[in-house]
Parts: sequence; structure tokens; C-alpha cells
Amino acid sequence: MGEVVALPVAEPAPEERPVLVLDCGGQYAQLIARRVRECRVYSELVPHSISAAEARARNPRAFVLSGGPASVYAEGAPRVDAKLFALGVPTLGICYGMQLMAQDLGGSVERTGVSEFGKTELTAEAESELFAGLPPEQTGWMSHRDSVTAPPAGARVTAGSPAAPVAAFEDPERRLYGVQFHPEVLHTPHGTDLLKNFLYAVAGAPATWTAAAVIEEQVERIRGQVGAERVLCALSGGVDSAVAALLVHKAVGDQLVCVFVDHGLLRKDEAAQVVETFEGHFHVPLVHVQAQDRFLARLQGVADPEEKRKAVGEEFIRVFEGESTRLGNIRHLVQGTLYSDVIESGGDAAVAAKIKSHHNVGGLPEDMEMELVEPLRLLFKDEVRRVGEELGLPERMVWRQPFPGPGLAIRIIGEVTHERLEILRQADAILQEEVRRAGLYRELWQSFAVLPAIRSVGVQGDERTYGYPVVIRAVTSDDAMTADWARLPYDLLETISSRIVNEVPAVNRVVLDITSKPPSTIEWE
Ligand code: XMP
Repeated sequence: MGEVVALPVAEPAPEERPVLVLDCGGQYAQLIARRVRECRVYSELVPHSISAAEARARNPRAFVLSGGPASVYAEGAPRVDAKLFALGVPTLGICYGMQLMAQDLGGSVERTGVSEFGKTELTAEAESELFAGLPPEQTGWMSHRDSVTAPPAGARVTAGSPAAPVAAFEDPERRLYGVQFHPEVLHTPHGTDLLKNFLYAVAGAPATWTAAAVIEEQVERIRGQVGAERVLCALSGGVDSAVAALLVHKAVGDQLVCVFVDHGLLRKDEAAQVVETFEGHFHVPLVHVQAQDRFLARLQGVADPEEKRKAVGEEFIRVFEGESTRLGNIRHLVQGTLYSDVIESGGDAAVAAKIKSHHNVGGLPEDMEMELVEPLRLLFKDEVRRVGEELGLPERMVWRQPFPGPGLAIRIIGEVTHERLEILRQADAILQEEVRRAGLYRELWQSFAVLPAIRSVGVQGDERTYGYPVVIRAVTSDDAMTADWARLPYDLLETISSRIVNEVPAVNRVVLDITSKPPSTIEWE
């Protein structure tokens, strides 16, 4: 008889053993999932209402119960299936999540009359599993009215604060852990260390969720989905479509064909960069459609912002459809759907069908019956960037600030003409260059020039001028829902202003937009 040799058991891919973050309605649930992933452990957000059976079927490494705005005693407050706690899966409750655990597991939660908001001094037990290796005195960021007054039966209190005697508990036997403060926010300096203790030491999760692992995994998947068939991808110049295209190219090579519709509304050198990067550097089969004249003709006489969006969007679809017909029968279409889109639309099925009207340019006709290839649907934006870097995408593309689909058309206030586009492109390029030179490009959510099609009087040399003003718009933001105007240094503003009026002959005035959103929007149209 031959020797019996055990077959090697493959390590499960990170996605097969997720950390499930149960969203209890807190603003931080998404942030928790991101922080877990920053510790290189794959995590997903799931509704708090997930049943223990459904959760177990996901084969999770651990559960994290997020914070939430409700009191555990409020009517309709989010609850979790108490059977989750008996699965033997390591579970960490944060803030509201911790209080739910205490309430469900024989502890108590009370409105003590003392709330804690903001930075709070904690005293932690060094021998505890969560606080192992961390200083016994540390700061935790708190936000709570109710407090846990007794931990779950059998659990030990491992940290306290002046107003919350039970600031943390743990029950290693049942693998249950709770913290009243928020380890996921940066105001808790040792928060990431605590999460790492939970993930690595308590839950035994390996740190394998890396950009390289994502690439390997996605390449496999894409090959599985596409087989030997052809795939079509619309490139916009933005980071999402670029990374999605490169992943597909890595997987199936020249079965991919990219279409770049150049609508003439991009910024200086952007179109050339797309072509140079994809065709020149990565050798991706690329159809560069020079449609500038078509778009300009379609925009003639159009001044209304929504009309402009519609015109650009419709024209884009028409051009893209034309190209895809010309390329023959291609069944697969790449789409850069991100994990945040998946979460926002409440799950899987909804997303595939949905193309936000806001993002209509680069969005595609609904009646195009193609099978979507979505290699980014597990990724947050910062992960897309890391994958882009790993794939060798140039820094400029990886870190490009958001740019609207209708492009410069909605940054010219009034009718879009060839002359105005040229003026805006020149002024915007100077602004970009100076913002980068000042090292502020990545700090700003967006920074750009706007050209209102009005004229004002100026004087240059001995001559009276009658030229366009250019607006400097620069904002900081986390998600574009709200934004603050950026306090750019005066020296930088001076350089931008004098360079624009000196180098762009049609402009004789530079002004600064100092409004936040709300009441303004980031764009002028
Ligand atoms: P607002 O101006 O509404 O912009 O504060 C919020 C964010 O959305 C971008 N934006 C657009 N993106 N098509 C796009 O793809 C559009 O029509 C559009 N309009 C605004 C804007 O640049 C900002 O990041």
C-alpha cells in the first residue's frame, strides 16, 4: 500500500471568512468595516436584523456590533438576534452594540443621568485580551447617555471611566467583548491597536486582505465569469473605471476592449494621459473616440445646467452605443460599482440595475442587455486606490480628485463654446499646478476653476480691458454631502491669481468662492 499523503488544505480566501459588522444605525458602522479592513482583515456590513442562522452561514471570523443613535430602551430600537451570542463566534460590541449585549446577556443598562461626549480618560486592565500591550491609562472617544451598570453574567469588567464604571467587559470563555468607547475613530489613539487585538489574538484572523490578494482573487473571478468571451469597458479618466479596466485586462488580456469617449470637456492633458496610460503603457486595446465636435454641437445654445447634463449624457450614450455596435457582439460590460454603492442601495440585486442619474455620463443605456463585470464591488474607494497603485496606475490617476461626468460643461456658467473651454482649461491647469506645488492637492476634496460667462472692466498696461472673471473653488469634504471652503494660503491665492491674469489673455479678474455646502453646492451648476 502506498503512503497516505494529506492533501494540502487551501487557506480560505479572505472573503470566505468575513468579519461581519452589524449595522445598528450608527454613523460609524461603515467606518468600523473600513478600519477592520485597514487591519487587513476582510469585513462586510450587514443589517442588524440578520438572523443567527444567516450569519453562521457566512462562516464569519467575528461579529462587531456597531454603535447606534438609539437608547436600548427606545421603542423600535434596533435589536440583534440574541442567538448570535451562542454561536461561539468572537463578538465585539461597540457603544450601543455593547449595551445590547449587556441587556441581552443578563447585565444591565441604565440612564444614570451622566452622559459622556468626546474624549474621556480610561483606566484599563493590562491583563485583559483587548487591552493587552496597551497603556493602562488612555483616552477613548465616547458618545453615550445610557451606561452599562453591570456586565453580562460571567463577564469581567476590564476598563472604566469616571462616568462609566463599565467602559469595557470581556468573557473569553464565551468569546464576548464590549467597549463603551469608539475604537474606530481617530480620537481614540489606541483604537486600532485594540481592534487588532480583537481581530488577530481573539478571533485568530490572519492579516491577508491586501491589495495583492484582492487582485489575485478578482483576476480568478473575472476569468471564471468571462471565460473566453470579449469584454467591453468605458473609460472616463477617473480612478474607478481605470482600475476596473486594468483588473479585467490582467485577467483576460486582449479579450478586453476599452472605449474612451473624448467629449472635449476634460481638463488640460487628461485625454492624452488616458490614451498614453492605457494604450502606451499597459497596451490595453483602446478605441479613442474623438467626439469633441459632436458634443460641442449638441451643447450649442444650451445654458441651463440640467439641460447641459442631459445633453452630455444622451450624447455619450449615443456615441457609446455606436461604438459597441461597431465592435460586434460583446456580451460583457465592465462597471466600476463600489462597495459604498452596494451598501447605499441596500444590497445586491438593487445595485446591478441602478445607475445614478447623477453619474449619467459614463452611465450606460438601460436597455443594453449586457452582463455586468464588477470587479470593485467589494471595495471602498481607498482600497480601489491601493489596488490602482499596486497595478502600477500613475499617481495622477490614482489620486485624481472627483471630476463630474459632464466635465467642464458645468463649470462654464452660460453657453459652452470652444473659446470658453480653452480659457477655462488654461486657467484650471494653472490652478491645479499651483495647488499641487503647494502640496495641497490630496488634502482638498476638490479644487478647480469656474468660468462665469460675464465680463468686467479691468486695466492692463495703459489699456482698458473687458474680460472674463475666473472663480477659484476649493473645498474640503468627506463625502461631498457637506463641504467647507478651503482656507488656501494667501500666498498661494496670489500666485494663482497673478498667473491666471498674466497667462490667460481673456481673463482680467480672479475671485474666490468662500461659501460652504450647504447653502451652496460644490459645483456652480
Ligand atoms: P454638488 O455640486 O452637488 O456636487 O455639491 C457634489 C459632488 O458631485 C459631483 N457632481 C457630479 N458628478 N455628474 C457627476 O458625475 C454630475 O452631473 C455632477 N454634478 C456634481 C461634484 O463634482 C461633487 O464632487
